[in-house]
Amino acid sequence: MEGNITLSIIKPRAVQKGFIIPILDKCHEAGFRISAMKLMQLTKRQAANFYKEHEGKPFYESLVEFMSSDRVVVLLLEKENAVADFRKLIGATDPTSAEPGTIRNLYAESKEKNAVHGSDSDASALREADFFFSKMERY
Ligand code: CMP
Repeated sequence: MEGNITLSIIKPRAVQKGFIIPILDKCHEAGFRISAMKLMQLTKRQAANFYKEHEGKPFYESLVEFMSSDRVVVLLLEKENAVADFRKLIGATDPTSAEPGTIRNLYAESKEKNAVHGSDSDASALREADFFFSKMERY
């Protein structure tokens, strides 16, 4: 399993703007399989825990507020080399630096409201997958 999964979140602004399906299309075209998916609104506590590694950084409080402000789509994606390939597909954290055609280049509005989250390592992917999905919810 390690190396084959990544966890993504389609963030509130991208959901509000109707980008769920275009983003899922991009994932499909890039060869990702959806192993689990849910539409939900994070509590502040869940958002704070999910982004705990960023606690203390200047953007942390605002990021937690934003991520719990409205519904998100949480996706567990499967593919060989999933973490690196997904990071390539979404582009740089800051959409002004994201390569043309990447998800963040197309659908993000700022560093915080950057359309999607993607796991930054295999270890994070496993931890983040467990954060959102029980084994029974994965296909
Ligand atoms: P994400 O992939 O969800 O992981 C951590 C998030 O923190 C990142 O995307 C951004 O939304 C946010 N982030 C990282 N750096 C900054 C920054 N300098 N200013 C605002 N938000 C940031």
